[in-house]
Amino acid sequence: MASQTTLTSHDLHRCFARCAATPTLLVDLAVVEQDFLTFRASFPDSPIFYAIKANPHPDVLTRLSTLGAGFEVSSVGELRLLLGLGIEGGRIISSNPVKTPAFLREAHAAGIRYFAYDSAAEVDKLAELAPGSQGLVRLEVSNEHSEWPLDKKFGVDSNHALELLAYARDRGVDPVGVIFHVGSQCRSVDGWRVALEKTSRMWDEGRKQGAPLQILNVGGGMPVVYTDDRVPSIPAVASAIRAECAKLFPSDSKVWLEPGRAIVGRAGTLVCSVIGLAQRGGARWVYLDVGVFHGLAEATGGIRYRFLSDAPGPESPCTIAGPSCDSVDVISTDALLPDVRVGDRLAIASCGAYTTVYASGFNGFPGPETQIIESWGDG
Ligand SMILES: Cc1ncc(COP(=O)(O)O)c(C=O)c1O
Repeated sequence: MASQTTLTSHDLHRCFARCAATPTLLVDLAVVEQDFLTFRASFPDSPIFYAIKANPHPDVLTRLSTLGAGFEVSSVGELRLLLGLGIEGGRIISSNPVKTPAFLREAHAAGIRYFAYDSAAEVDKLAELAPGSQGLVRLEVSNEHSEWPLDKKFGVDSNHALELLAYARDRGVDPVGVIFHVGSQCRSVDGWRVALEKTSRMWDEGRKQGAPLQILNVGGGMPVVYTDDRVPSIPAVASAIRAECAKLFPSDSKVWLEPGRAIVGRAGTLVCSVIGLAQRGGARWVYLDVGVFHGLAEATGGIRYRFLSDAPGPESPCTIAGPSCDSVDVISTDALLPDVRVGDRLAIASCGAYTTVYASGFNGFPGPETQIIESWGDG
């Protein structure tokens, strides 16, 4: 199957023809399935907990559930969504290091037992609201290879992590594991290598102190192709992680994964329309009916989307902006497009993750509708 970043013009036409209106996010379940199976084949001994924040569409969740995925949730809303689809708490974990008390109560009642923490206050909440829980301490690791870093808000250094392991044990929260996140859209396997080295030192020390560490949650962060197709593939990330774990961790350690972007990113193609054109400061500006407030929020933090057009002629540089009356609403300052016209359609590749979930409807412009399809090339 062709990657959505390399659609032929025939595929592009079929993709445009599917959308009665724009913006529309086409999500190809066959691609979701293929990418999930690639994860499973690449990490045969690891449970995969899909981080549903990336794209919680019920059809995506149902397909992944049928394939045997586990799920990672952060909130009451995400939890209820899964429970409503008949997915039991035993298949769900929560790795948000700071959880609301209401969520903890409901998650515990639903049978969720694995929770992340990175503070004494969170351990206290777990002890009181989710008794009998198994805890994974969130270690801070470098996010230097990531296009969407997550390191400023969460994680503790190794010494603090060791203190928290002891504190958790005292409070009756079983300190069974460590979790880290190398940052989303991590472009180098070195991100995991360095994180695993750091974790292994802390792990050995924790075991010496009596913590029953067994679970090593290596998070998400696995990349998809946007404009740079040199990002490591899932098998390449897997072989680096597995080799490092075999070298650094005891053989009874269990590696867990919670990817979001790399499960659903490639499957989504965002179809939108050109709504305006301008020359500004010597540059060509192209305005779309979708912008940073309507699904492309990650453009403000470093994600560089690939735009596909069927307009004739050579491509040239342009700035691409969204429809709202706000100057932040700029999606790219160095895109390449041919000579598009108002009313033309564009496809934006690899938009299955962190798009519809971010759409706010700001300024009265609706976010993309999702249209689920089954196999890209069909019909
Ligand atoms: C705790 C946690 N786990 C997993 C993920 C999924 O990460 P990614 O989409 O980069 O795979 C995230 C993303 O924010 C996260 O915060």
